[in-house]
Amino acid sequence: MNKQHFEAQVLHTPFIKKDAYNSLSMPVYNTAAYAFDDAATMEDAFCERRPDFAYSRTTNPTVQHYEDIIRGVTGAIGVTALNSGMAAISNAFITIAEAGANIVTSKHLFGNTYSFFTSTLAEFGVETRFCDMTNPADVESKIDENTCGVFLEIITNPQLEVADLKLLSDVCRSKGAPLIADTTVVPFNVFHAKDFSVDIEIISSTKYLSGGATCLGGIIIDYGTFDWSRSKKLAKLAQKFGKGAFTNKLRTEIHRNLGAYMTPNVAYMQTLGIETMEVRFNRAAATALELAKRLKSLNGIVSVNYPGLADNKFYELSKKQFGDYPGAMFTFDMKSREACFEFYNKLKLICRATNLFDNKTLAIHPASTIFGEFTEELRKYMDIKQTTIRMSVGLEDVDDLYNDIAQALQ
Ligand SMILES: Cc1ncc(COP(=O)(O)O)c(C=O)c1O
Repeated sequence: MNKQHFEAQVLHTPFIKKDAYNSLSMPVYNTAAYAFDDAATMEDAFCERRPDFAYSRTTNPTVQHYEDIIRGVTGAIGVTALNSGMAAISNAFITIAEAGANIVTSKHLFGNTYSFFTSTLAEFGVETRFCDMTNPADVESKIDENTCGVFLEIITNPQLEVADLKLLSDVCRSKGAPLIADTTVVPFNVFHAKDFSVDIEIISSTKYLSGGATCLGGIIIDYGTFDWSRSKKLAKLAQKFGKGAFTNKLRTEIHRNLGAYMTPNVAYMQTLGIETMEVRFNRAAATALELAKRLKSLNGIVSVNYPGLADNKFYELSKKQFGDYPGAMFTFDMKSREACFEFYNKLKLICRATNLFDNKTLAIHPASTIFGEFTEELRKYMDIKQTTIRMSVGLEDVDDLYNDIAQALQ
């Protein structure tokens, strides 16, 4: 049979075991623990000699089915589902970082990721080195033998900067550092991280995968492409587990100890979400492009920033990496913070809310909210402007969204 497309693969991923009642949907196994027939079987399960379920902080059939779907469509060797995007980022870095190590990244980071690196991890002796991800020579100059990973968002939120992943992965390969990408903004039905030599992919599944902001979640995808014998922390494990060293460390130690595994109800909702992701993504992203084009000519809007616009400086690169629709998020700038607030308060249909890729269209003023507790100096350093509004486009008709924006500008 020909290789199936994304939707068929997702919808027909086999269950781990045949269901007793031939349920079409994966049942929600709302249980903390699992009973065993005898002590020897239980010992084997606890000592990783059998793949049995023992306790739902470690693994659970409903969550594992969700992980299996993602493993199948991405071609990964390991997928771990956690209870938020931040849990995915923190679990991934605690797996590879240790005191004395450094992370090479961009100053254009989601606010909590920035805070996790520069406050939480810094207190454990991990250094964060900022560089310009659009300049591979700068990235190369920051990597040394203590670098545990190079991290970036594939389209930064909210600056919408796009780095050339092929060039970055070449740098990472030659310097022996894993390339770790947060791909939340363009999910794996469209952006194939493995083709760009991303070693570890991280997603806030609260966004597209959840099926319309139904719940929080985070995913760590391990492509098995990095040679962990080059990692100071995982080199020993690599002797035993080879390319599987990262997922082994994560699954047998870190995620168990941090206790942020996805819950079965959430996995069930996100399984439904992923089943419709292709349809929702294409609709929302096409609306985002059309809306971004139309907004350019509206009075009161100074500029529109979306890598899918032909005059955007990242247009060609974005098209190469993400196709015609680089996600359903764009920003626009107005003449002042006051103009943004006035516009924002007049919106009638578009929701004043944080989050991305809800089925409803959401608008936010990032400088006063997500980055509200940062100093103005830090906001400037991160290119967070008081004049920017961020839009996350949902499933409404483009005319209704345009009309709401036009009336709010009057
Ligand atoms: C790019 C990006 N990464 C990570 C996160 C964190 O995800 P979560 O809110 O699910 O913890 C967000 C949240 O908005 C995000 O935009």
